[in-house]
Amino acid sequence: MGIHGRSNGHTEGAMPRFKTILVTGGAGYIGSHCVVDLLQNGHEVVAIDNFANAVGDDDGSPALRKVEEITGKKVTFYRADLLDKPQINDIFDKHSVECVVHFAALKAVGESMAQPLLYYQNNVLGMLNLLEVMRSHGCFQLVFSSSCTVYGEPERLPITEEHPTGKITNVYGRTKYFIEEMLKDLSVADERWNIISLRYFNPVGAHPSGLIGEDPTKEFTNLMPFMAQVALGKKPVLTVFGNDYNTPDGTGVRDYIHVMDLASGHVAALNLLSANHVGLKVYNLGTGKGVSVKQLVDVFERVTGTRIPLQYEARRLGDITAMWADASLARTELGWTTTRSVEEMCTDFWRWQTMNPDGYVKKNKTSVIVNGKS
Ligand SMILES: NC(=O)c1ccc[n+]([C@@H]2O[C@H](COP(=O)([O-])OP(=O)(O)OC[C@H]3O[C@@H](n4cnc5c(N)ncnc54)[C@H](O)[C@@H]3O)[C@@H](O)[C@H]2O)c1
Repeated sequence: MGIHGRSNGHTEGAMPRFKTILVTGGAGYIGSHCVVDLLQNGHEVVAIDNFANAVGDDDGSPALRKVEEITGKKVTFYRADLLDKPQINDIFDKHSVECVVHFAALKAVGESMAQPLLYYQNNVLGMLNLLEVMRSHGCFQLVFSSSCTVYGEPERLPITEEHPTGKITNVYGRTKYFIEEMLKDLSVADERWNIISLRYFNPVGAHPSGLIGEDPTKEFTNLMPFMAQVALGKKPVLTVFGNDYNTPDGTGVRDYIHVMDLASGHVAALNLLSANHVGLKVYNLGTGKGVSVKQLVDVFERVTGTRIPLQYEARRLGDITAMWADASLARTELGWTTTRSVEEMCTDFWRWQTMNPDGYVKKNKTSVIVNGKS
């Protein structure tokens, strides 16, 4: 899909660059990994997060302090909520933000079904506030975290960006779909907007340093953190929902992508935006390969030397059988491709988990002895 788009993203030689990038949800899993890549590519980063699903402490974000350690560069961080528009406005007043990479959202499918208003408010209203503040500060460059959930049950595989969207079975996915529709309308109405929506497939893994990884504060449902908890002996079994799908081993098939490959997709998107006016463009970020849950578990066991007992349960309502990307548009237009294997996804995640079995450690300034009590 491209709306008044000039497509060729791959530009040669020196190109104009955005200096200051605002990263929303920067303390989260994908956000923190992406900040590493942005800093290493010469951008300055102002990150915000409300810690709805990330560890935070008196000094800000432990994840982003690790990012500073990895890169040797500074991140400006604000604890801020996108629902608090005046606060977001103040941050834009303080910094000349040239482009926004918008990760901040709630993302748990089950929670979204139980609390739809929370999801519509946080994700859709949060986006609306951000767009209004951006416009009032003359900032029209945006990279948006979308998801392959916007495609619903695939009509054909692999999925290209042309595949119909909108037949979605859960509220979380619908927030992404509604936002994409909103961005379409916006880019048609006002051609100053220059937007890339990236539809992620299934991000897993961690930075190879083992210093940052996935450490949600809400109950997690993503496969790899769960699997690692089982491997560490913190949970007894890995529950797999459905082993009677029409796939080679009966378990669901997904397109797992290393989080650092995903991060580099954002740098590629920024490069395209900084050199071209695209209006609104949408790209799949995936490897183009389907891997079953069972295959992922097998690779994880092999590369980590651990055992993951499985317990099969009935399929979950709304789960799809198989989904993988056709990522050729991102290759030709963004000059981006994945380079990391499923083995690396597992090894890197395991390094993070074993180096940090309890996740990020909080710094608490108040943990001093006061009147004999800590
Ligand atoms: N991880 C996945 O499997 C996946 C797949 C497709 C798309 N996505 C999208 O990618 C983005 C990042 O996902 P992630 O896996 O890093 O999730 P995450 O929960 O680790 O990161 C999101 C961050 O946004 C913050 N946040 C949420 N609402 C906020 C608000 N109102 N104001 C400020 N901060 C807020 C959370 O505290 C969290 O740190 C999300 O938009 C998600 O929907 C994720």
